[in-house]
Amino acid sequence: MGWNSWNKFACNVSEDLIKSVADAMASNGMKDAGYQYVVIDDCWQVSRDDGGNIVADSQRFPSGIKALADYVHSKGLKFGLYSDAGSKTCQGRPGSQGHEFQDALQYARWGADYLKYDWCNTETRNAQEAYSTMSRALLDTGHPIVFSMCEWGTAKPWLWGKGIGNLWRTTGDISDKWTSKKKWADGTCCEYGMVDILDLQVGLESFAGPGHWNDPDMLEVGNGGMTIPEYRAHFSFWALLAAPLMAGNDIRSMSPEIKEILTNTEVIGINQDRLGREGRRVKKEGELEVWSKSLADGSRAVILFNRQASETEVKVTWEDIGYPAHLSARVRDLWAHRDLGASTGSFSARVASHSVVMVKIAP
Ligand code: GLA
Repeated sequence: MGWNSWNKFACNVSEDLIKSVADAMASNGMKDAGYQYVVIDDCWQVSRDDGGNIVADSQRFPSGIKALADYVHSKGLKFGLYSDAGSKTCQGRPGSQGHEFQDALQYARWGADYLKYDWCNTETRNAQEAYSTMSRALLDTGHPIVFSMCEWGTAKPWLWGKGIGNLWRTTGDISDKWTSKKKWADGTCCEYGMVDILDLQVGLESFAGPGHWNDPDMLEVGNGGMTIPEYRAHFSFWALLAAPLMAGNDIRSMSPEIKEILTNTEVIGINQDRLGREGRRVKKEGELEVWSKSLADGSRAVILFNRQASETEVKVTWEDIGYPAHLSARVRDLWAHRDLGASTGSFSARVASHSVVMVKIAP
């Protein structure tokens, strides 16, 4: 769990921004809710020096990256950086191709705890080779660094990423929309709305587990392009998918509704459940769906999902979630923070348009 600069700030990153985000995270309840990593995405780097060492933008980061990492650490948080497996990053900054070991050592010296590693300008490079090389370089530093593979799912990293990275993107980029599908200008990949990304997770659940997670991309909660019920659905699904929860909004100035979504500790508890199982879609009837995640204590987190334009009832049967029909189970609403009593055989609820009811069902 953490925060990443890209979705809201794109290339507009600076040490002032990162410090103020770390201040906010440490004091606004996010750190208490479990958010930890503060990650600078693309555009912190400008060139290489004569020795080939990566050089940070000295106008935007006048105190240097080490001082910034120290600052983030002083708040009890962790610090992350971004690079790319190609010659250049997606925004045309120097990439790490041919400099992997040198860059990894530099990140470790600066005290980085996390590296997001992108896939632009990689030409004919083999993804498994490229990510293995940086993985080895990070390991060789002796400093623990979470390795976030951002390959967009093209080479199916879920098939080979375990043991190389800790998380891997399964798709192209999320956009702050309910639905949308676009190709990038150069044709290499793509952009999706939230539910399009969700649909692309179906079938990948068995590849994730503790230390090796599917990453459906960072959160758009709070960036303004979706409604509050839609953002609640977005956050519920990312929690149920055991996805990395990387906030991508301006956490320094959130509305109370947005903060309530991002810091719902009951929903976060589902995401962080120690069994580490990714949830999955167990029923689809047109625009109504049921998703379920098995939890360590034998209970289930269940999402009743309504894609329709109007409110309607959605039902989960115990059979859908692998329970015998005669079982009596307690149902708790994780957004209303309310126990709904015991049910036998099934549970149903009214679900608003483009939204969810998320419950925990415990025998
Ligand atoms: C790619 C990645 C994004 C972001 C940008 C930065 O599009 O998939 O998450 O890192 O590059 O340029």
